[in-house]
Amino acid sequence: MKIKNTLTALAAAISFSIAGSATATDIEVTHWWTSGGEAAAVKVFAEAFNAGGDNWVDGAIAGSGGVARPIIISRILGGKPMGATQLNHGRQAEELVEEGLMLDLTELAEKEGWKDLVRPSSLIESCTLDGKIYCVPVNIHSFQWMWTSLDAYKKAGIDAPETWHDFVASAPKLREAGITPLAVGNQPWQTNGMFGVIQMGLGGIDLYRQTMVDRNSDALRGEKMAEIWQAFSDARELDDPENSIQNWNDATNQVITGKAGAQIMGDWAQGEFQVAGQTAGTEYDCLPGLGIAPALDTGGDAFYFPVVDDEEVTAAQKRMASMMMSKAVQVGFNLAKGSLPVRADVDLSAANGCMKKGLAILDNPDNIVSAGVQLLSADTTGQLEDLLVEFWNDPSMAAADAHDAWATIIEEAD
Ligand code: GAL
Repeated sequence: MKIKNTLTALAAAISFSIAGSATATDIEVTHWWTSGGEAAAVKVFAEAFNAGGDNWVDGAIAGSGGVARPIIISRILGGKPMGATQLNHGRQAEELVEEGLMLDLTELAEKEGWKDLVRPSSLIESCTLDGKIYCVPVNIHSFQWMWTSLDAYKKAGIDAPETWHDFVASAPKLREAGITPLAVGNQPWQTNGMFGVIQMGLGGIDLYRQTMVDRNSDALRGEKMAEIWQAFSDARELDDPENSIQNWNDATNQVITGKAGAQIMGDWAQGEFQVAGQTAGTEYDCLPGLGIAPALDTGGDAFYFPVVDDEEVTAAQKRMASMMMSKAVQVGFNLAKGSLPVRADVDLSAANGCMKKGLAILDNPDNIVSAGVQLLSADTTGQLEDLLVEFWNDPSMAAADAHDAWATIIEEAD
């Protein structure tokens, strides 16, 4: 309720904080935020943009980013661009920017001091090509979280886990209570994300950097990674063999309703718990870094603005970028989204216990690493996703074989 009041107050603050425009300009905005929590966050953006005198034309695309991104990119390449679009931090718009199809925001970014405001600096670097800035980072989402159902553990009559190891040990008792230990959505990006969290949790941030950032073959193919691949193989037993869940938020709903004990998912899952009226530490809890060591990756979202030959649209695109970076919107949007703000100079006193855990981790740069989408091309990411989802669903596939294929993909990444 506290967050709801905060959001209402913020909406009022936002409406006065953004200079209105003379005439309302329609901007069609594409994104893949269609779950309950995501829609609540979109509403903050839309209301703030409209309060400034323009008109947010919502272009939500159902399905995951893997469905939406090809649609978005083909529209831009095909000469039918939207006014603004969500993409992830990193290299997803690389070719569009190189083709000169995306609006240069450098002048606005310099006027508003984004480079001094945004942390970590990798978020602005991910928007920058040849010294020019082409996107506005709007949040920090990290996949490095596990969400547990405290209700499920009460039902099973055991303590909720503090770490991944506790969780694995608790699985038999959950099963006895008719509860699926691990809720999993069967889309490639989710399996790949889940592997990255288990790799980070069990291998630590140094090994993550050696493998994903440095792409060091000794690390990629070493004993520790072999152990991690075996643990990931074993984790297949924690899912349901007949699992038919696809969407990430349907898997989150299994945790919300106590049908599953836990889910490894990015912190956008928080929006779902909030919309369900659940409170961190009461009905659910959160284990960043699987509760083993503090770690976050700086995934998340940025908005890009396709070049349109219309001065009024260009001006409205820049008003939208400025709105998204503004203090009031950064607080209101991120509280609703379950993500962390890109700027440190905002008051997040309304943040819940889980977000506060994330902010504390974010304060120490040693705990932070770029997300896979910032490090790898869309093509390499797609290869990893296909391998991981195949492995997860094919018990006959040996960990050693998948490990070898995984290492090769990263060694050969562009
Ligand atoms: C991610 C995005 C998040 C979240 C998630 C699930 O790519 O960064 O904002 O919405 O997809 O849709």
